[in-house]
Amino acid sequence: MDYMKFVEEQVAEIRRTVGDAKAINALSGGVDSSLVTVLGHRAIGERLRTVFVDNALMREGEPRWVVETFAQMGIAVELVDAREQFLSALAGLTDPEQKRQAITDTFYCGIFGRLVKESGAKFLLHGTILTDIEETVAGIKRQHNILAQLGIDTEQAYGYAVLEPLKTLRKDDVREVCKLLNLPDEIGNRIPFPGPALATRIVGEVTRERLDTIRAATAIVEQELGDSGAFQYMAVLLNDRATGIRNNKREFGRIIVIRCVDSTDARTATATELPWSKLQRVCDRIVTEIEDVNRCLYDLTPKPPATIEYV
Ligand code: XMP
Repeated sequence: MDYMKFVEEQVAEIRRTVGDAKAINALSGGVDSSLVTVLGHRAIGERLRTVFVDNALMREGEPRWVVETFAQMGIAVELVDAREQFLSALAGLTDPEQKRQAITDTFYCGIFGRLVKESGAKFLLHGTILTDIEETVAGIKRQHNILAQLGIDTEQAYGYAVLEPLKTLRKDDVREVCKLLNLPDEIGNRIPFPGPALATRIVGEVTRERLDTIRAATAIVEQELGDSGAFQYMAVLLNDRATGIRNNKREFGRIIVIRCVDSTDARTATATELPWSKLQRVCDRIVTEIEDVNRCLYDLTPKPPATIEYV
């Protein structure tokens, strides 16, 4: 694939379609939405409003990191604090599909719908890639970012048209285009991270307190396994408690699972054969640095039958 030609064509296409109107896009900091942001700004500059919605489900320090990283590239990103709305939409929910639906609805119908209306944007730029379309159509993945492919007419439903400049690319193509456009390696080489963020790694109810636990565990796992060469690595918080003993006292603590997988396209995956010493170090840090966690497990299950995420 001629990536330079791809960039020129997409930039021209965005310019032509948007014309003198305004466009908006939501940046998550992931590789796809980051590339869309850069292409969009190349095409129409300030007429593209880029927002980062803090949904309370992000990793430690993520919202600020994303805004600062794009500021260094000369792209202004507006940080929208929607933590309360997401947390109240998730309160009391334990069913995985209901949790995912609540996040989708809060984002599209609540926060983002309002932002689009306020901005007067007629176009929404979206980072859908080819694999998203294929997997959604095949019923493998329930992606919240596929609208047209599911027969939803966004112009009629929400009053804006969706542009998907990456829809002919696969993940490795996206990474190549990022390199070509000099996006920082920290963005171009990021491991996959799901749209519903840490909510996919909390079994049971998503609360502020449980998010603090998973955020702390995620930071440790990402620090320790960053050099593992694995496709994806994460921490998961289970919904059970287990008996333990600390400072000579019995306690009923939380359980964290470490998941680290090798894969090429996320359709199938196997557990990474991590060195024992590495596993012991992660386990040791998790049960000593995170309050209330007294057990740490390593997940050996391949996909299928398991999925990579837990929710
Ligand atoms: P599963 O858990 O289905 O995940 O084996 C396969 C890959 O997709 C990611 N994933 C998502 N990505 N929105 C996304 O953008 C989602 O809702 C979503 N769910 C899962 C997951 O992290 C893995 O890389």
